Amino acid sequence: MTTLPPNDTHIDIDIEHLRRQRQLDWVASGRDLVVGHAADCPLPPDELMRLDARHPAVRELHDSGLTAEVFRVHTGGRDWAVKRARSACKVQGVDGQTSFLNEVQRRAEMAALPALQRPGLSPTVYASLKQGLIVSPWIAGSRVDGWDETGLRQLFDSGLALLRAGFFEWDFCPGNVLRDERQVWLFDYGYLYRFDPLRHFNSAGTGLSAPQHHLAERIESRHVFGWLLQLESRHGADAALRAFRIEKSIALDAYQRLRSTLATDGATATVLQWLDGICSGWCAALAGPLADLYLCEGWRSHATDLDDDLKGQTCTPTTLERADWLLQALRLHHGALAAHGTWQGEEATLDRPGLIARYEQRRRQAVEFQLPAPTSDHGGMHRPNEWPLPEKAS
Ligand SMILES: Nc1ncnc2c1ncn2[C@@H]1O[C@H](COP(=O)(O)OP(=O)(O)OP(=O)(O)O)[C@@H](O)[C@H]1O
Ligand SMILES: [Mg+2]
Repeated sequence: MTTLPPNDTHIDIDIEHLRRQRQLDWVASGRDLVVGHAADCPLPPDELMRLDARHPAVRELHDSGLTAEVFRVHTGGRDWAVKRARSACKVQGVDGQTSFLNEVQRRAEMAALPALQRPGLSPTVYASLKQGLIVSPWIAGSRVDGWDETGLRQLFDSGLALLRAGFFEWDFCPGNVLRDERQVWLFDYGYLYRFDPLRHFNSAGTGLSAPQHHLAERIESRHVFGWLLQLESRHGADAALRAFRIEKSIALDAYQRLRSTLATDGATATVLQWLDGICSGWCAALAGPLADLYLCEGWRSHATDLDDDLKGQTCTPTTLERADWLLQALRLHHGALAAHGTWQGEEATLDRPGLIARYEQRRRQAVEFQLPAPTSDHGGMHRPNEWPLPEKAS
């Protein structure tokens, strides 16, 4: 007689490896994936595929994106975002190379889920993998340079809706978040992956192998700590701490709601205990001056973001500022960081000079991997009359 293995014997399947393999297979197969109907496009897909700056419907072009160019197209009294895949993606690595496919896959799944038809998550009008097109409503907003309570709550709410539906967003970088008059929006789903929120922490490794990555960690690492870095250097440590307190309180409230929904839905004890551990750490810190948590989350945020940028070879001047913050933290607060068990794996074996040498080396790499500066002070955005283009063909 054979005994069926308990479900938990499957937990060591590497879901990240599997996802990458399936996506590479998909690319190799040349299969198409279409979302929505071509008839809903602002212009016929063939015309969208050939779009250039001289087309009369084009109002803006965002060409600093690494995987795609994004056109603002005006037709029928409305604005549309037309994202067109670059023939050669500028991000290194499998995830970068498959990010357009990934976005079309996620948009196909999201379009079928009523819980994800909500303000804050860009809906899909039409998408086709083979045509390299994603059409969505234009978001009349701008990048978030400074956070307030409303904006942070909206961002966490979108993140929670995605998590509950089994989607984990990795890249909350400033270029992937827009805010209009009413709402903070997510619209770039290139690094949004599936996972099982009832059994897994996130979509990395086995789903349980990288407990350090979660929604607040992603938001802080990719976005909020970049802003806190600016606050710290312009307005001082106290201003940054006050802002951090607001963000952490919002994160705690979001996680308490997440914990209770996941418990109702039948999440495993492993997932619930992991969330309880995070929440109790934050609660204790919020009851005090918060400086230690700021140091630890700051280290974590800047170190992981530096790592992401080095892996993708997508470094910017902010990457260098983050590296400088890390070096300063090592020089001034090595003892406190060590006491909190900040370093894992190989880094845990290094002493202070060893860590300083390592981060000096990483800073040098970040200098090497600097992306070319955006071509305009709009951060890569052009309006037609600003382009140094040949005359329009009549
Ligand atoms: N629906 C939209 N409404 C308004 N602006 C948009 C929209 N979609 C994209 N954009 C603009 O185009 C830029 C690039 O878009 P997106 O991030 O989707 O492309 P990308 O090539 O994946 O970029 P990257 O690889 O740098 O993340 C955004 O930063 C944003 O300014
Ligand atoms: Mg993007």
